Amino acid sequence: MTLLDEVAQILQEARERIGKADSLAALKDLQVAYLGRKSRLTAILKQLKDLPPDQKKEVGAAANNVRTQIEQAFKQTTEQSGNIMRLSFSGAPLVDPTLPGIYAHQGVTHIINQTIGQMCRIFQNMGFEMAYGPDIETDYYNFEALNFGPDHPAREMQDTLFVEGGRLLRTHTTPVQARVLESRRPPIKVVTPGKCFRNEAISTRAHMAFHQVDGFLVDEGVTVSDLKGTMVAFCKAFFGEELKLKFRPSFFPFTEPSAEVDIQCFLCGGEGCRVCKVTGWLEVLGAGMVHPAVFEAVGYDPEEYTGFAFGLGVERIAMLKYGIDDIRLFFDNDLRFLKQF
Ligand code: DAH
Repeated sequence: MTLLDEVAQILQEARERIGKADSLAALKDLQVAYLGRKSRLTAILKQLKDLPPDQKKEVGAAANNVRTQIEQAFKQTTEQSGNIMRLSFSGAPLVDPTLPGIYAHQGVTHIINQTIGQMCRIFQNMGFEMAYGPDIETDYYNFEALNFGPDHPAREMQDTLFVEGGRLLRTHTTPVQARVLESRRPPIKVVTPGKCFRNEAISTRAHMAFHQVDGFLVDEGVTVSDLKGTMVAFCKAFFGEELKLKFRPSFFPFTEPSAEVDIQCFLCGGEGCRVCKVTGWLEVLGAGMVHPAVFEAVGYDPEEYTGFAFGLGVERIAMLKYGIDDIRLFFDNDLRFLKQF
């Protein structure tokens, strides 16, 4: 084989092997093998001085050209592999960055679960524990233990969905209150997030499935001012420090006295807008002092213990907080909506 043939062969072989290199480390090894001090090409260039002048010129030009070609092949391959290859550890496969990337789909926590988390965290920071109950409830815990007698008119308001075997889908998370009180003894300080169901026509403002966070504190000597202080602290932590609140008398069978809490509309600052229906106020929760009949149902002496309780509608609060005007958006599972949060 003539020196010229050998030079040509080196180029061909180097190109093939560079093309097949599958890692940065392999490429580096090839670079040493084909361009290094001990490479065949370097040996040929060293021999040039001993060649007759005509050959020296011809072989020298060819060898230098091949050297440039191989250098270029290395440069091109390294550049093609781009940043990814430079970042990759030795031994990692070469990557062609000109190919379309693989889209890594990143999920988000559902806005309702995020809101439940934010609400519960505020109560947890005040020392409340978490407790959960079943979605399918008995009439006893959903109604009776909460002082809704069999013919209580307030049952009507709850639009109950019944399931086989005389059970029902709980219409609120308040039954967890009865379950926890029954199974433990004060002091008790608990929040109970969960799903609720009502036989409602689905509209922009109402859904048959929704979420609530209930909470309650039972101990000796608990008063209305404990309730008020806790509700004010929660609303300020959740909606903002500057917030104004209003306690309005209300009715629930399981609390006496009962109240509903309104916050000053944070959208218009109380001046009146579409969200607050021009009242300047937004209703955010129901609350009250635990009714003595509830204590009796769970086996407590109402003379010994008192307590307060409250219930928040999660969808309603999320709608207010994020300016969402259709409750159905939470349940449609449209990623374009859900990914915004
Ligand atoms: N359970 C009530 C409802 O669904 C909300 C509620 C009001 C819960 C007052 C409470 C409470 O714990 O004390 O409308």
